[in-house]
Amino acid sequence: MAQFRIDGFTVIIGGTGGIGKETGFTFAESGVKGILFADVDGVASANVAEESKQIATNSKYKALSTKIDIADAQSVQEMVDLAVKEFGRIDYCINAAGVDVAEYIPATETSEVDYDRVMDINAKGAFLVGRAVAKIMKEQDPISITLPRHGARNLGRGSIVNVASAMSYGVVPAKLPYATSKHALLGITRALAMDLKGFGIRVNQVSPIWVKTPMFEEECRRVPSMPEVVNKIVPTQRAVAPDEVASAIQYLCGPSAVFVNGSGLLLDAGLLLGPTFA
Ligand SMILES: NC(=O)c1ccc[n+]([C@@H]2O[C@H](COP(=O)([O-])OP(=O)(O)OC[C@H]3O[C@@H](n4cnc5c(N)ncnc54)[C@H](O)[C@@H]3O)[C@@H](O)[C@H]2O)c1
Repeated sequence: MAQFRIDGFTVIIGGTGGIGKETGFTFAESGVKGILFADVDGVASANVAEESKQIATNSKYKALSTKIDIADAQSVQEMVDLAVKEFGRIDYCINAAGVDVAEYIPATETSEVDYDRVMDINAKGAFLVGRAVAKIMKEQDPISITLPRHGARNLGRGSIVNVASAMSYGVVPAKLPYATSKHALLGITRALAMDLKGFGIRVNQVSPIWVKTPMFEEECRRVPSMPEVVNKIVPTQRAVAPDEVASAIQYLCGPSAVFVNGSGLLLDAGLLLGPTFA
């Protein structure tokens, strides 16, 4: 488990959502020095930051919160400025902010307004965050961690993880803006990784299928057959648990993943491998 210890300062956007909050708690448990929980819901961010203090294992742990609109460059810059002012550096940046489409409708009926809204938050937001955070990471000294049985390991200048979706690789009906945004997100992840690899900054994404969070619960409310669909087509016969996504993010930020860069880590239990005949 030593390889899963994490040391450093973290920013989590979408930090009050199902995946963001669980990732924050996992990081707090893993020994980080501080987390800035940023979300469009500022009040919930403050509550989650407070709650994380009960879970943190680092005696110097510092929890902060702020309101942010990830689709707004100025708002993103203010979040980065706050993190740098309070922490001095950003070692890990987790982008777990995201929205679903307003309506599940065919591409021919999809509105430009909803297309732009989903693309702005799910795709452009990741670019704005990656751009602003990477400028800070590029200027900071690399950090290293000492593993009890393996000695010192250089972690580089930082790690950025985007929470994408299995829809970076496949699509489902009636969700064109969402699927498009997640395909774009894979491109943003890989392009950022390309431009930052020379600086010791890694950029990866996790790409889960349905995750048991408020977003999935809302989908089940809108489409009551969803739990049955998941049970039928997902090999594990259930949605992913938020802690399973958080653990994958923790791995991508940790000392065992120094060689993992530009990856899209699918968490789909093999669903996208293709149809099962038997
Ligand atoms: N739940 C799923 O089935 C599932 C599956 C695959 C991928 N994802 C992706 O995981 C990510 C996290 O989703 P979740 O399941 O935790 O959903 P969630 O709705 O619980 O969390 C999303 C969070 O993003 C925040 N957010 C929305 N708009 C924002 C904005 N403009 N600026 C800042 N924050 C904003 C919300 O307030 C919320 O806290 C999303 O990108 C989602 O697309 C979810």
